[in-house]
Amino acid sequence: MSLPSAKLVEETGLSFDDILIIPKSSEIETRADVDLSVQLGSIRLSLPIVSAPMDAVTGHRMAQAMAECGGLGIIHRFASIDEQISEVKKVKRARNVVILKPVVANEKHTLHEIKNLEEQYGIHSFPVVNNEGKLVGLLTRSDYILEENLTTKVADLMTPASQVKMLELKSMDSFDINLARSIIKESKIKILPIVDSTGALLGLVTRRDIIELSNTKATVDAKGRLCVGAAVGIRHDWLERAGQLADAEVDAICIDVANGYLKRVRECVRRLKNEYQHLTIIAGNVATQEGVLSLIESGVDVVKVGIGPGSVCTTRVVTGVGVPQATAIYWSASVKGDKKIIADGGCRTSGDIAKALALGGDSVMLGSMLAGTDESPGDVLVVNNRRVKSFRGMASAFAFRDKKEKLKDSVEFEPTPEGVSIGFSDYKGSVKEVLVSIEKALRSAFSYVGAHNLDEFHKRSQFIKITQSAIKESHPHSVTVIG
Ligand code: XMP
Repeated sequence: MSLPSAKLVEETGLSFDDILIIPKSSEIETRADVDLSVQLGSIRLSLPIVSAPMDAVTGHRMAQAMAECGGLGIIHRFASIDEQISEVKKVKRARNVVILKPVVANEKHTLHEIKNLEEQYGIHSFPVVNNEGKLVGLLTRSDYILEENLTTKVADLMTPASQVKMLELKSMDSFDINLARSIIKESKIKILPIVDSTGALLGLVTRRDIIELSNTKATVDAKGRLCVGAAVGIRHDWLERAGQLADAEVDAICIDVANGYLKRVRECVRRLKNEYQHLTIIAGNVATQEGVLSLIESGVDVVKVGIGPGSVCTTRVVTGVGVPQATAIYWSASVKGDKKIIADGGCRTSGDIAKALALGGDSVMLGSMLAGTDESPGDVLVVNNRRVKSFRGMASAFAFRDKKEKLKDSVEFEPTPEGVSIGFSDYKGSVKEVLVSIEKALRSAFSYVGAHNLDEFHKRSQFIKITQSAIKESHPHSVTVIG
């Protein structure tokens, strides 16, 4: 009798419900001592949460809120290139530390006119420019506060350009917030004008905005703008889409396909990494060491892990393929080296997120936990007396149909749907509140194992496998739960 050539892996695949993190003695004094930050390629997150590129989850509102809370949003690709670019631009423009078109004065203005500008715009400092837009001086409140003669000219009050500390750049493209911060800190100035090599005013940065930025947990780029990612596929217009996203100054490109084992995915990663070294390249999905290693060899910065765990995913039912998510993360983390992993799909609670991180994930990608919020696309509906928002799988029959219609996609080979076409997610209110409660829960989880940061959480976490009766014990029982 010969053995079948298919092999059976001895290990049992585990899901989040099959395990618990074992508590450990802890030196954490307060949960505020816990640092949840993580570096994903060139992007620093203070909260290791990424929103899924699904059309019921991440448009510009979600991406903006995610970045404001220290996470990252990946704008979905089920839109034309122009529509996706416009979503990215909205996030990039939502906040700017540099004032690009400051209110300016000229030397001939009188103090009376300056007081009018002060009242109109509520500002007290004015770069002074000549007719060619070149900086000739700086007028701040201390220059005119004691002057009583309202006909005095700006020329007689301002600090001349030769005595003004300024930052000279070729163009605003080379602006770096850290350089501006150190000049403002060292020179103890309140306002830093930015000029080009001809002395033309490009913009200005204020000390107040720099301080505000330092105190924020928001995910920001080198210019102090919110970070945002965007998804691309691997066929049709994918390269043009990626190019236009890069031009729109997206921070991360996510190659978003169900099967990250395809040779084509590796080719696309190589191409993107070659052309856009400055961007964070995320690709997936895979669920094994082999899959992770192949993407790392292609040059990826961040690997997305998860085959079939998603809330609206039917891959395992339809194809019989997948790896239970806890095991997939554990396997993947064992070979990630200095690259990073996003555990994608299957998180239903903050406890699942904590387990995904403890198993070696560097961040998690959430779909259903963020769907149904104010910031997710779509309207609130009432179904069976419940307030809900639509939520569906991106590999569902309806999503394929809509994509075909919308993008005029000529698909040579219609794929089998692997997702739920019509679903609903309970209305949850503001996503910021959802993220705050996740953040608090993660701080608690870290403190239970004595981890000050993610690295320690990875190293200190141990798990115990549990039984069905332990799962029952873990949930509220023996009481009537009202709230
Ligand atoms: P959760 O559980 O957070 O999962 O809602 C979000 C992830 O689910 C994946 N996804 C799908 N997987 N068919 C699939 O097999 C689908 O139609 C589908 N739609 C989304 C995706 O990885 C997402 O981030």
